[in-house]
Amino acid sequence: MGAANNTPLTLASPLPFGAGPSSPNRVMKSAMSEALGTSDHNPDERLVRLYRRWAEGGAGLLVTGNVMIDRCALGEPGNVVLEDDRALDAFVAWAAAVHAANATTVLWMQINHPGKQSPSVVSKVPVAPSAVPLTGSIAKAFNPPRALEDAEIEGLVARFAASAALAERAGFHGVQIHAAHGYLVSQFLSPHHNRREDRWGGSAENRRRFLLEIYRAIRSRTGPGFSVAVKLNSADFQRGGFTEEESLQVVSELGEAGIDLIEISGGTYEKPAMTGSQRPSTVAREAYFLDFAAKARAATSAPLAVTGGFRSAAAMQEALSSGATDLIGLARPLALYPDLPQSLLNDPEFKVTLPAPSSGNKKLDAALMLDVTWYEHQLARMGAGDEPDPSAGVWGTVWGLVRTGGAAVFRKRRA
Ligand SMILES: Cc1cc2nc3c(=O)[nH]c(=O)nc-3n(C[C@H](O)[C@H](O)[C@H](O)COP(=O)(O)O)c2cc1C
Repeated sequence: MGAANNTPLTLASPLPFGAGPSSPNRVMKSAMSEALGTSDHNPDERLVRLYRRWAEGGAGLLVTGNVMIDRCALGEPGNVVLEDDRALDAFVAWAAAVHAANATTVLWMQINHPGKQSPSVVSKVPVAPSAVPLTGSIAKAFNPPRALEDAEIEGLVARFAASAALAERAGFHGVQIHAAHGYLVSQFLSPHHNRREDRWGGSAENRRRFLLEIYRAIRSRTGPGFSVAVKLNSADFQRGGFTEEESLQVVSELGEAGIDLIEISGGTYEKPAMTGSQRPSTVAREAYFLDFAAKARAATSAPLAVTGGFRSAAAMQEALSSGATDLIGLARPLALYPDLPQSLLNDPEFKVTLPAPSSGNKKLDAALMLDVTWYEHQLARMGAGDEPDPSAGVWGTVWGLVRTGGAAVFRKRRA
């Protein structure tokens, strides 16, 4: 999707989203779970401060960290949940802070259900399409799931739509369905995780039914100017998992159904490709999933975003000019440099280098998901009104985890 009237496409070009508000530029803040919910799982002044900061930073589109659709199914203890209107005022204040800080910023809420990726510290028996447990080094942190009943699946579709309708009432411009990274929708798409033989599984068409039903249910409960987007894996990178071929079919169907944006990522807790490069060729171009995006571009005319690995204005410009993507998704860079979009828009040579936080012990790093946790700690700093600290050591993060979660964090950390 090029810029209007054939002017050259740059990071500063606006991007329309159907009947919803257009992004004023091509920089998107991708979802980062802030884990800043109150004990009742509502937003408070910490999220207001953080998002005000990002709105001032100039990204055209802000997507919130995942907001859960069911308080009985959390991805981590500090999740925000939106399932009814008992605390809608807190969500109104969150959205209003963004609108007041920057009237042109587009604000979408990412909505999610973790399925089996709900750690044992928060879920005794998580739910999933089928009773297939997680495997690998992270498996110990999660209880084996049970398979959902048909009526429960219908109920979850309705919950996604209810959360979206509430987000619209609260003043968000749209929602993004989290269908990536191994959470519930992604579990339905995967032949490894979805072994059902009813209308929700078996064929590829049946496995994508959950996502498409959620999409349609949201459209039926929200207005025409409310944007609906999806974050989708290019692949799960797991034997027997969701493949590129199937992902392209999903892209094509979502496009036909009228989706406003498809954000491309990849990986799951079992194979965390979303925060790491796939192969050496991606290092030069920075973005991990650009090759797939080029194929997705051939499969749909819906707007596309690619997230994962972008660090320089030059690589972002090249990705836009190639036509493979319409938006540049950024996560970790904005946890450290909230004003980065302004710098990228003003200087085509601008780039950032990010630290790779490590305790020096790879096993400990993996057990604590130290990379993600260290960045989450930066979000908490901004939420408290402090500046992010790129030179922060990792031991402060570890100590913070122990203080809040006790020794259990060494076993039960969210991935
Ligand atoms: C602290 C943290 C939390 C994240 N939470 C989410 C989330 O809630 N939803 C989501 O779709 N992706 C989440 N991600 C993944 C990012 O959106 C993004 O796909 C990934 O970090 C790669 O992009 P980057 O290289 O620009 O960081 C998270 C990443 C980090 C570092």
